[in-house]
Amino acid sequence: MKLVKLIANLGYGSRKEVALMFREGRITDPDGEVLYADDKVPHEHIRIDDEPLDPPSGIVLMMNKPLGATCSRKDIGRVVYDLLPPRYRVRDPALSTVGRLDRETSGLLLFTDDGAMLHRIISPKSQVAKVYEATLASDLRGDEGELFASGTMMLESEKEPLEPAVLQVLGPRRARLTLTEGRYHQVRRMFAATGNHVDALTRVSVGALTMDDLPPGEWRALEDREIARIFEPPAQD
Ligand code: URA
Repeated sequence: MKLVKLIANLGYGSRKEVALMFREGRITDPDGEVLYADDKVPHEHIRIDDEPLDPPSGIVLMMNKPLGATCSRKDIGRVVYDLLPPRYRVRDPALSTVGRLDRETSGLLLFTDDGAMLHRIISPKSQVAKVYEATLASDLRGDEGELFASGTMMLESEKEPLEPAVLQVLGPRRARLTLTEGRYHQVRRMFAATGNHVDALTRVSVGALTMDDLPPGEWRALEDREIARIFEPPAQD
């Protein structure tokens, strides 16, 4: 792909604007040598204003989603895209969230511009585990684990029963829930069906991928070995 198109597709500007950036000498190699629009240079050797170029298409990002941001491009309130550089909103191919977390859910949120990867992560067929930790308004009754694991639990207005889910009790009002699907408000609705209420919810892992020490609101691109972890079973403890 021609350099102007490649850089424009990464959201740095229109092709016209990127062509101007070349003419202004803002696009260089790592030694500061000015690059020209028809140069053939490996992606990782391109600098814009001395900064490495964003990763090429085929990326997966992870974010520690803070409370209060929605997984939407259009919402008029605070959205998760506000936490990325503005050019990430206009990349082509487009960057989408991999499923959604509610506005009042925090934790591990993935983004990708790779449609096949997105489908592979969210499809119940892939059995990728999404692990949530919930703080509840009332004590657990004791029978939730059995109900959630049954494979027959029906949520209101749904036609299909839920896939079996694993509940791990962490305290009288604290639980970890592992799902292999992602229905609308699923965790909150599952606990609501038992007469409880989720006061706080965070996603702690997707497959074996965890956020480690990524602070709330921060994000980074994943390396291939981290992407592979998404498809591995989560660590047990
Ligand atoms: N289940 C929910 O209820 N909310 C989320 O954000 C994710 C799963």
